[in-house]
Amino acid sequence: MSATDERPPIAELRDVHVVHRARAGGLFSRERVYALTGADLTVRAGETIGVVGESGCGKSTLAKVLVGLQRPTSGSVTVGGEDVWTMPMAQRRRRIGAGIGMIFQDPATSLNRRMPVRDILRDPLDVHRRGTREQREERVTELMSLVGLPASVADVLPSQLSGGQRQRVSIARALALEPGLVIADEPTSALDVSVRAQILNLLLDLKDRLGLAMVFVSHDIQTVKRISDRVVTMYLGRIVEQTPAAALPEGGRHPYTRALFSATPGLLSPIDPIPLVGPVPSATRPPSGCPFRTRCWNATDVCAADLPPTEPGGLGGGHEFRCHHPVPAGVGSAQLVELAKAATGRTTPLHVEETA
Ligand SMILES: Nc1ncnc2c1ncn2[C@@H]1O[C@H](COP(=O)(O)OP(=O)(O)OP(=O)(O)O)[C@@H](O)[C@H]1O
Ligand code: SF4
Ligand SMILES: [Mg+2]
Repeated sequence: MSATDERPPIAELRDVHVVHRARAGGLFSRERVYALTGADLTVRAGETIGVVGESGCGKSTLAKVLVGLQRPTSGSVTVGGEDVWTMPMAQRRRRIGAGIGMIFQDPATSLNRRMPVRDILRDPLDVHRRGTREQREERVTELMSLVGLPASVADVLPSQLSGGQRQRVSIARALALEPGLVIADEPTSALDVSVRAQILNLLLDLKDRLGLAMVFVSHDIQTVKRISDRVVTMYLGRIVEQTPAAALPEGGRHPYTRALFSATPGLLSPIDPIPLVGPVPSATRPPSGCPFRTRCWNATDVCAADLPPTEPGGLGGGHEFRCHHPVPAGVGSAQLVELAKAATGRTTPLHVEETA
């Protein structure tokens, strides 16, 4: 058991499914969208979990479930050991509001445009009745200094701030109630390239100083590897691997984890990316068996027939994956690219069956 495994869990998802009903072709017909399927995840005190996967794979849905903004269709979400969807609404709001902070992608839309910075930051303190009025004012000043905002912006509206300053306000708001866990869903991707590094460094600094756990969703795979303890790979609504970040890319056993990491080689050792054939299937009709089988170079009939069980990955630190034919441990990226290229020249067509 690694040190990470011994920290107390802050939030846990068990077999969580989120199915949306989306309007299909006709006015009254509705299709099921499988946004999150059978998700199991434990977030422990002080750890950073990075979440990666292509657009639409369910990263934001996972984030929203963790912070109570999305009720699961089935499965359980526990915060501090208690199932938050079986408790009364007021208790759930208190529990999640005080325990988990959320930073969204775009501060221009996630902050109330009519409120000055001071009120935005005092709002969670008022709602949760923290301290006296004076103590709340003091906390607002403290929060602004914590995220590097000058006192002079306390009375201005978000629209009068730069993008980077607005995201600092979002971060301060997320930290107002001293949560143990912060969820950041692409917190820098809506910002100018020039301020992204500053905001990322601020988040990392605060995480260390305050001992926060963090779930960090991003398309920037190399940043995720650099800042995370554990990387969660998602594909078509499913968590397909959880890997200790330091062991990536070679430690990844799931073909999709390896393909994702091969697509962003380091500048010093450029390699060809692993070729993936075909588009990501629709979230309304995920394939039977393994969701990745329509694009995987290793797929066989068993991949179409059965969903692979979750297996321990052998590296500790929560390493686990779902794959019938995992990449052998320690195979290097260049060697894997050759194996995948050779395999995609196969002549046996994949047997594609869609679930209802
Ligand atoms: N309210 C909704 N109604 C219907 N479908 C939805 C809804 N919200 C999300 N989805 C669908 O659920 C799936 C997962 O969406 P999600 O936003 O979690 O993906 P994502 O990984 O965050 O994508 P991106 O990288 O583009 O942000 C997608 O197919 C999306 O279209
Ligand atoms: S289970 Fe089969 S299709 Fe899925 S990732 Fe593993 S080898 Fe590929
Ligand atoms: Mg998203």
